Amino acid sequence: MSLILAIESSCDDTSAAVLRDERLLSNVIASQKVHEQYGGVVPELASRAHQQNIVPVVDTALKRAGVKANDLDAVAFTRGPGLLGSLLVGVSFAKSFALSLGIPLIEVNHLQAHVLSHFIRQDDEYEPPEFPMMCLLVSGGHTQILLLHSHFDMELIGQTIDDAAGEAIDKAAKIMDLGYPGGPIIDRLAKDGNPDAYQFATPNIAGFDFSFSGIKTSFLYYLRDRLKEEPDFIEKNKADLCASIQKCIVGFLLKKFEKAAVKYRVRQVAIAGGVSANSALRAGVAQLGVKHHWKVFVPTMQFCTDNAAMVGIAGYYKYLRGEFADIALAPYTR
Ligand code: KG4
Ligand code: ZN
Repeated sequence: MSLILAIESSCDDTSAAVLRDERLLSNVIASQKVHEQYGGVVPELASRAHQQNIVPVVDTALKRAGVKANDLDAVAFTRGPGLLGSLLVGVSFAKSFALSLGIPLIEVNHLQAHVLSHFIRQDDEYEPPEFPMMCLLVSGGHTQILLLHSHFDMELIGQTIDDAAGEAIDKAAKIMDLGYPGGPIIDRLAKDGNPDAYQFATPNIAGFDFSFSGIKTSFLYYLRDRLKEEPDFIEKNKADLCASIQKCIVGFLLKKFEKAAVKYRVRQVAIAGGVSANSALRAGVAQLGVKHHWKVFVPTMQFCTDNAAMVGIAGYYKYLRGEFADIALAPYTR
């Protein structure tokens, strides 16, 4: 039996979780509202907010789990990739906490953690994925198709050559002046729109790679032209525009993901990362599962965006392997 405290602070969410083996006991997330007025994450402000949040977030996670710091066996933390100032808060906290308790430290890669979120147990009935499995990892910073042979043996099958999917959605929202982060807003507005109202071309990229910068540019140019004729074009057609750009991005993701899963003959597929919260992507991957008789894993909402529970499960598998981190290690941004 192991009791692990996990800490995530790579971007703008301060989170702490407690796991007993694979079982999640608590997962506390403090999101930072301060960035909304700037239309994006301001690194310096994120770092400061982490400093304010980290102690109460860890304290709440321990209390909700019903455990004391002295009962912990290890502290897992996100080492990277992420924003340096944000990572430093979580890394420094994890180091001093582990040092004061005399327990080992476990470093976790943020992207691996997103993928491994499918192995978190919230109840006894849950059956996690089996290997080999394929995962579409889509967040604000990454878009990757990964083939998992085991928990830490992840083969990169395809990735974006420019913007990440979440970044493209957020930029489309910014062009329409919808607010930040744009992903959830576009998802909500798209529900009342016609996804076939407008067509935006997707680029021809070889293999299983993606490119999103062209989609964003064609969206921008299309709107610029229409706004010249009709200044309130966006306002009048907001729902249709959201539904159409969402369909374009999600359709592109799913087309490549389907091709990759067919080629590698996997029977278990998953989506992970912030964009896996998107309702069209969730529905689309479920449909692919029905079509191909795949077992599909879609994360519950609290595990889509950044959270410490996923850091805890990745930490647990490293704990089993005895992979502990040196107290002198530094975070990495990429
Ligand atoms: O994984 P995440 O929380 O942070 C990174 O590691 O990047 O992902 C954040 C991204 C943002 O781009 C956000 O707009 C997007 O996930 N996102 C969504 C939805 N919820 C969050 N995109 C589309 N639909 C959503 N419902
Ligand atoms: Zn993330």
